[in-house]
Amino acid sequence: MHTRKIGQLTVSAIGLGGMPMSIEGRPDEERSIRTIHAALDAGVTLIDTADAYHLHAGETGHNERLIAQALASYGGDTSDVLVATKGGHLRPGDGSWTVDGSPRHLREAAEASLKALGVDAIGLYQFHRPDPGVPYAESIGALKELLDAGKIRMAGISNATIEQIDISRNVLGDGNLASVQNQFSPAFRSSEPELAHAASLGIAFLPWSPLGGIGRAGQLGTRHAAFQEVADAHAVSPQQVTLAWMLAKAPVVIPIPGASRPESIADSARSADLVLSADELARLDVA
Ligand SMILES: NC(=O)c1ccc[n+]([C@@H]2O[C@H](COP(=O)([O-])OP(=O)(O)OC[C@H]3O[C@@H](n4cnc5c(N)ncnc54)[C@H](OP(=O)(O)O)[C@@H]3O)[C@@H](O)[C@H]2O)c1
Repeated sequence: MHTRKIGQLTVSAIGLGGMPMSIEGRPDEERSIRTIHAALDAGVTLIDTADAYHLHAGETGHNERLIAQALASYGGDTSDVLVATKGGHLRPGDGSWTVDGSPRHLREAAEASLKALGVDAIGLYQFHRPDPGVPYAESIGALKELLDAGKIRMAGISNATIEQIDISRNVLGDGNLASVQNQFSPAFRSSEPELAHAASLGIAFLPWSPLGGIGRAGQLGTRHAAFQEVADAHAVSPQQVTLAWMLAKAPVVIPIPGASRPESIADSARSADLVLSADELARLDVA
């Protein structure tokens, strides 16, 4: 597996998104564990999660606990695996997603994530989504405190504008913003400016829902014909082509395709080895 950097840490160029294993439509635990093990078998060393990846009220941290369990039961060495979690989103259990970016909540959420993951320090802690009711710098100030206290090793943000990226750099201090995680896929390209900004600063950029999201990823080839045509030319899946296209955008890009089946992440992981020509990339850029 090719590698990329988040801060000073080397991780696989393709990560695993944990969300499909814990929200609506999630599989049973046994299949989820097999999926995470398949990712590790494929050389994936970045797993993205969040405290809010759960379904029912009262099961906050479902996905974090699942990942901790899968790492503990894996036969091989997992010491180089970075688990990136998030705080600031909540799921009351009625299907909705709410936000709380208050420093108090983020401190409590990080403590709960430490327990759910069973670690002394969180490898990468991301502020999940801006809270309109809390000044952005105050939310990021909580991450700075967590960094200074050694509770998190790296700080990241998600669903951020360029302005919020710059506020975060300012509050966290030079070089301490490790990652930006924004939506980016063939169907959703409006975060290109944030991607370019992160690339210019050497900050890791993690595209979320890179295949179009749960329930839509399977139709990627029919929804985006050019991706299917390039896939046919290489005898690979259109999902692999999508991830390879993203990887080619900048060395800071690390897609985190979600999976709830071992076959999905095994296929996605192979995209790290797929090289597309300049003509193909240019075609996909405008497709
Ligand atoms: N920061 C945020 O606000 C935010 C928001 C959404 C998501 N995320 C993160 O981003 C991750 C990825 O996003 P996502 O899970 O919403 O959507 P996604 O990665 O675009 O799509 C996930 C779906 O793609 C399917 N899939 C994966 N690889 C495939 C392949 N090679 N061929 C065919 N199908 C494939 C999976 O199917 P199976 O389930 O059948 O395996 C899975 O359900 C999430 O898991 C989460 O960690 C973050």
